[in-house]
Amino acid sequence: MEIAKKRYAVREYQGKKVEKEKLATILEAGRVAPTAHNKQPQKLIVVQESEGLVKIQKAANVYGAPLAIIICGDHNKFWKRPLDGKDVVDIDASIVTDHMMLQATDLGLGSVWICNFEASVIKTEFHLPDNLEPINILAIGYGGGKIEPADRHDKTRHPLNDIVAYEKL
Ligand SMILES: Cc1cc2nc3c(=O)[nH]c(=O)nc-3n(C[C@H](O)[C@H](O)[C@H](O)COP(=O)(O)O)c2cc1C
Repeated sequence: MEIAKKRYAVREYQGKKVEKEKLATILEAGRVAPTAHNKQPQKLIVVQESEGLVKIQKAANVYGAPLAIIICGDHNKFWKRPLDGKDVVDIDASIVTDHMMLQATDLGLGSVWICNFEASVIKTEFHLPDNLEPINILAIGYGGGKIEPADRHDKTRHPLNDIVAYEKL
């Protein structure tokens, strides 16, 4: 709860690089995330070098973060609900993303989850095969802007009464 409340979308970063050990811990959090049927369809592309960051910036605004992880889903690997064929690859990729985002917060790093990007540009720039879909981008780094207070959710989130129903809608 402490980490969940501490985290906020960071859209301003210091130039300081994310340490190798911290990156390794973040990636490990993504590795151990649960996925449907344990299919583990995630493929994580870590981008830290300027050449890669320039490529990402052609497709998305990563707010000058020194590290971006492109979370891809493998359409050859994921599970589909047999009854109606519902595709859960977005769900799997998002659990992986959330694990890494919360881990980054716990390590004192800022992050922002990015879905507003041109997927076709990412696919071309990073030579992704047809089966790999870029689903989320997680930008990570040391925050450079104002620190948001942990109690801000009283104002920025709907009250529980609005989002929870017990036993029936
Ligand atoms: C699925 C998803 C997609 C998002 N896409 C973007 C994005 O493309 N660009 C961006 O600046 N923020 C993006 N965000 C961040 C949200 O806007 C932000 O988390 C939300 O406004 C709540 O603010 P908070 O994270 O500071 O609590 C995204 C968040 C989620 C969960």
